[in-house]
Amino acid sequence: MTSDMKGVKAGKLRIAAISTSKYFVPRLLGPFYARFPGIEISLKVTNRERLLQRLSNNEDDLYILGQPPEHMDIKLEPFLENPLIVLAPHNHPLSGHKNISAARIAEEPFLIRESGSGTRLATEKFFKKQQLSINVRMELGSNEAIKQAVAGGLGIAVLSAHTLALEKNTDELTVLDVEGFPLKRNWYVAYPTGKQLSIVANTFLDFLRTESKPMAERYMQGLPNYHS
Ligand code: PGA
Repeated sequence: MTSDMKGVKAGKLRIAAISTSKYFVPRLLGPFYARFPGIEISLKVTNRERLLQRLSNNEDDLYILGQPPEHMDIKLEPFLENPLIVLAPHNHPLSGHKNISAARIAEEPFLIRESGSGTRLATEKFFKKQQLSINVRMELGSNEAIKQAVAGGLGIAVLSAHTLALEKNTDELTVLDVEGFPLKRNWYVAYPTGKQLSIVANTFLDFLRTESKPMAERYMQGLPNYHS
């Protein structure tokens, strides 16, 4: 931490975060607030389209997203891994199998996120690269709805491992061991090029760089097939 950041006492911090990052950004705010209690934080959790609009209108201090936008003049810094895993109901016939082929998994009924979702874009890109097309059973607009539908046996899904942060001990869901997975992605923090960040925003940026990884490692510990 730089010396002027140690002196941060008060100020406002506006963060806009993409939907899936709600699994870890709010968790970081507790320890951040404990260290800098005078900082007033507002967090807007929104979808990708709205987040990019806010970014181009310069409405917030910092933006957290998983899929870097093209053609925008922004500063972008990866600060945390965002692995995508294949989620299935606990009693799925492929549960416990090793190194399941991408071709085999593509035959399963898939539950996918809404169009425009970074998770969906990355999933489609992966299967397209393998020249496979997935068998889409249903589109659902939220990670939580998808997890419930997977647990209910409607299909399988590719989701960020962060969505399982509080569910490691669930006996309803399992992570399948599929070749090429976990898909390696990152969380990025962004802001418009040329924007002069406030001391408060710089303090949070510094906090993201140093604290998000150890925090994520703590809560992801024990997640099956996460580090494979
Ligand atoms: P989402 O996630 O848009 O699928 O919520 C962000 C991302 O991973 O790009």
